[in-house]
Amino acid sequence: MTDKKVLTKDNSPTFHSSEYDETYHSTSGALEEANKKYSDVVGIEKYDSVSVLDLCFGLGYNTAAALDKFTGSRMTVVGLESYQGIVDEIINLCDSGEYPFQCEYAMEHVAREGRYSDKTVSVELKMGDARETIKELKDSSFDVVFHDPFSPQKCPELWTEEFFKEVYRVMKKGGKLATYSCARVVRDNLKAAGFEVTDTKPVGRRAPGTMGVKK
Ligand SMILES: C[S@@+](CC[C@H](N)C(=O)[O-])C[C@H]1O[C@@H](n2cnc3c(N)ncnc32)[C@H](O)[C@@H]1O
Repeated sequence: MTDKKVLTKDNSPTFHSSEYDETYHSTSGALEEANKKYSDVVGIEKYDSVSVLDLCFGLGYNTAAALDKFTGSRMTVVGLESYQGIVDEIINLCDSGEYPFQCEYAMEHVAREGRYSDKTVSVELKMGDARETIKELKDSSFDVVFHDPFSPQKCPELWTEEFFKEVYRVMKKGGKLATYSCARVVRDNLKAAGFEVTDTKPVGRRAPGTMGVKK
């Protein structure tokens, strides 16, 4: 793994990707981003039972933030990720005591075994190109989607109308997608795929993120 560890401004670690020349999280705060741009936007604590699709699982922060906040009876998560090197860093961060979430036992288990389950939570990680692995998922399966690829400039293939149509297919009616970008092209592609699009609260910078709802 040639990616370098970086400490973000809220003291949570992330990595800088040598392949994409971008950090995996905003340097203004990785923990803050996972909480405020993803689990808070969809209101994870309001669900009693929820199914989550974590697109671009990486260090698993978006799933971990949701697990830490969840007080309901059942949460199921499917994570899609293509790069094992970053998943292995979950193990290193947990072992060094730097993983910034309480659910580190579950997350280290996911990183080692590809899955974790207990009486409340189940998490399954599917490795491979998300454009392919998403095709294995059934229609209308998810209440919530965390959409967190590298930027549209660096990773355009995960921000296309075609990919958003697949995401739309696997979401339940009324399901919520959260993403950090508010770029025009992203919103146009979400709308073309059928989503209703709104601003989310800005975090760490002035631009808002985006929520897409399946009508
Ligand atoms: C911005 S990072 C995601 C950060 C992550 N949510 C976290 O909490 O660490 C983008 C992630 O997308 C992954 N990725 C890039 N292309 C992909 C693809 N085609 N399919 C699945 N994952 C991909 C990268 O390996 C990286 O882990």
